[in-house]
Amino acid sequence: MGRRSINYIKTNDGSNTLYSTQYDQNFHSIGDGALNEAYLKYINPSFEIFKDKDTLNILDICFGIGYNTFATILYILDNNLKTKVNFFSPEFDLELISSLKEFEYPKEFNKIKHIIKAISTNHFYQDEQFKIELYIGDAREYIKTLSNVDIVYQDPFSSDVNHELWTTQYFKDIVNTLSDKAIVLTYSIATPIRIGMYENGLNIQEYKYDQKRRATLGSNFYLDNNSYNLKLIDMEKKKINSPYSKSLQDTF
Ligand SMILES: C[S@@+](CC[C@H](N)C(=O)[O-])C[C@H]1O[C@@H](n2cnc3c(N)ncnc32)[C@H](O)[C@@H]1O
Repeated sequence: MGRRSINYIKTNDGSNTLYSTQYDQNFHSIGDGALNEAYLKYINPSFEIFKDKDTLNILDICFGIGYNTFATILYILDNNLKTKVNFFSPEFDLELISSLKEFEYPKEFNKIKHIIKAISTNHFYQDEQFKIELYIGDAREYIKTLSNVDIVYQDPFSSDVNHELWTTQYFKDIVNTLSDKAIVLTYSIATPIRIGMYENGLNIQEYKYDQKRRATLGSNFYLDNNSYNLKLIDMEKKKINSPYSKSLQDTF
């Protein structure tokens, strides 16, 4: 089998993404930018909340092109943080992972080329500060094996095409992976998704990642809204105001 050619799509911050024919969706928002999105939606809020923690376990759902994991490492290196991070990430597209060593990432990624190569080739990387474990297979199976996760980057394709990674049963398994003080971050602000998270015991807050746009943060502990610029969503009121909104359910 020949190597598949990579059809890049340039996003607004200049970083490349891909279009998935399987899901009929781009891997990243063109408007937000693939790299920018990783910082604004996932990395900045995580490190604001957990800036004092020495070690973090991050579950990256799902690996895809790897922007969220790789940019987290860059953030730590660029800010000279001592934080140790263990990354856990499922991805069932082995062909995509194998192609990442050739992927044209932004030039900032040059300093972690050795990490990208290890992940693309061996699905594993470890040094004194970072450990990355990729699981080639179904995220639903993989998450059942995890525990003590501090941060979940919940970044699948949207729920209309990637249904199994947004159901209430999925969020139950996600909540079971969490440490005592953990957060789940996602770009989705849809009420049925928030209900699925809330039904499994997460407090639902939202944060503005730029002037206008919002994202969702679920937490299993008390987070002072004022300190982090969060807005608590009253989910009981939301359920009364949107009586037809229900969490998504597994269909298998
Ligand atoms: C939106 S992309 C992830 C983007 C990623 N954060 C990045 O920076 O490239 C979603 C990824 O989830 C993978 N995926 C979807 N459903 C999955 C499942 N059930 N198990 C494992 N991987 C899955 C897809 O193959 C795709 O690579």
